[in-house]
Amino acid sequence: MYLLPLWASTFLVTSVVAKQCQNFSVPVTLCARNGIFNVPTLRDNHDASLFFANVTNPRGNFSNEVLLGYRTIDNTYDISVRFCRPDAGYGRDPTVQFLTHGIGFDKSYWDLPFKSYNYSYIDVAVDQYGFSTLSVDRLGIGNSSIADPLNIVQLPAELSAIYELTNMLRRGCLPNVPRAFSKIVHVGHSLGSILTYNLAAMHPTASDGLILTAFSLDSAFIGATFDAWASKLARNNQPKRFGHLPTGYLTWANASSNEKTFLDPGFFDPAILPFSEATKEPFTTGEVLTLSGSPSTAPAFKGPVQVLDGNQDFIFCGGDCSPASDAATIPGAVAAAFPAARAFDAYIQPNTGHGINLHYNATNAYRVAQEFLIAHGLGP
Ligand SMILES: *[C@@H]1O[C@H](CO)[C@@H](O)[C@H](O)[C@H]1NC(C)=O
Ligand SMILES: *[C@@H]1O[C@H](CO)[C@@H](O)[C@H](O)[C@H]1NC(C)=O
Ligand SMILES: *[C@@H]1O[C@H](CO)[C@@H](O)[C@H](O)[C@H]1NC(C)=O
Ligand SMILES: *[C@@H]1O[C@H](CO)[C@@H](O)[C@H](O)[C@H]1NC(C)=O
Ligand SMILES: *[C@@H]1O[C@H](CO)[C@@H](O)[C@H](O)[C@H]1NC(C)=O
Ligand SMILES: *[C@@H]1O[C@H](CO)[C@@H](O)[C@H](O)[C@H]1NC(C)=O
Ligand SMILES: *[C@@H]1O[C@H](CO)[C@@H](O)[C@H](O)[C@H]1NC(C)=O
Repeated sequence: MYLLPLWASTFLVTSVVAKQCQNFSVPVTLCARNGIFNVPTLRDNHDASLFFANVTNPRGNFSNEVLLGYRTIDNTYDISVRFCRPDAGYGRDPTVQFLTHGIGFDKSYWDLPFKSYNYSYIDVAVDQYGFSTLSVDRLGIGNSSIADPLNIVQLPAELSAIYELTNMLRRGCLPNVPRAFSKIVHVGHSLGSILTYNLAAMHPTASDGLILTAFSLDSAFIGATFDAWASKLARNNQPKRFGHLPTGYLTWANASSNEKTFLDPGFFDPAILPFSEATKEPFTTGEVLTLSGSPSTAPAFKGPVQVLDGNQDFIFCGGDCSPASDAATIPGAVAAAFPAARAFDAYIQPNTGHGINLHYNATNAYRVAQEFLIAHGLGP
């Protein structure tokens, strides 16, 4: 009889068990300055069209026209999170990655239950590289608290939730995660990257490093994106999933809008489009009205920053982000916003659109991000 050496059987067991994750909900008390906007309650899809006609009107800044003032938000909301750590345990001074999804997704973006989790950022970061991760449903989305879509679910409130959860990780006060982390990296996708950028601008010591995926500081293509979305009330568009939501929750019209703005034709599994359309998440009027409020620079952020964009990103590059790492390109121009960053890299992922994770080669893009963190002293 052939006996496996002890280490081999241990290895077999651990490689099968893989990452250890738990989902739970955390009450978070926000501290944010939200806008008060004079916009009528949307009654139907026609009102949704009028709202976007206002927002995309090139003559003015609709957010500013309807802004009546500001209100301090200090309520407590539940934020639904998923924490994952390597099965083999933590390293000596472990790094946790804080993952924030974009519009149209929830935290499952980072660990997609599609084709046996073949498109999992978390599998790459945790199983292949040994990082820990905290992926969150943004305020108002997924299994986090549903809230007033105009007055509460705005970028300042969502940023506050991210900041408070980051502080809990640093102090060792996050429920179910009985340890403190001295190294926290923030990784975003799209609106998640806008929020991550705002975190670095407003709380420059909250994060030790940034990976901004599907991101730029060029807002020239947002109007074309809203046009392609032809957005409807979420409750009309998918009544079974969104029938309970207030009318200020919106979603793009259909799979064609999704494909046009998120995908690079020929480079995704045809089955992933209907999957992502069937599982899409809505966005809110309050988010739309606060999208353009970011500071133009993050002058005090000192950590390393990587911008990682698909070469065909429609929303942030108008469909053409290449060539890479040139200050004259749209992703490269983000460098100017980070004058104190100790490293900056703009990486262009080939054969990929805005919804990076929906493309065949997504996990190889994720390896590039892990290598960047390790190269700049933020290894697991
Ligand atoms: C659109 O803008 C017009 C003019 O400012 C305003 O009267 C109307 O209430 C707005 N409607 C929506 C749905 O934003
Ligand atoms: C935990 O959250 C993930 C989303 O990241 C979801 O896919 C999974 O089904 C959830 N698990 C449970 C047991 O709710
Ligand atoms: C998972 O992805 C690999 C390539 O990265 C591919 O060879 C394999 O067929 C995929 N499996 C499924 C179930 O999609
Ligand atoms: C939300 O909770 C339900 C029920 O536990 C679960 O099936 C689903 O996967 C969760 N979704 C997310 C995004 O965590
Ligand atoms: C998707 O929605 C757009 C905008 O409303 C519409 O022009 C198009 O015909 C729709 N496509 C399909 C396949 O339903
Ligand atoms: C539009 O107005 C809002 C509110 O005053 C402001 O935060 C934002 O920066 C403005 N957007 C642009 C593109 O000027
Ligand atoms: C897959 O991604 C890696 C990492 O960015 C890249 O080097 C490679 O060229 C990509 N392959 C294809 C076929 O796009």
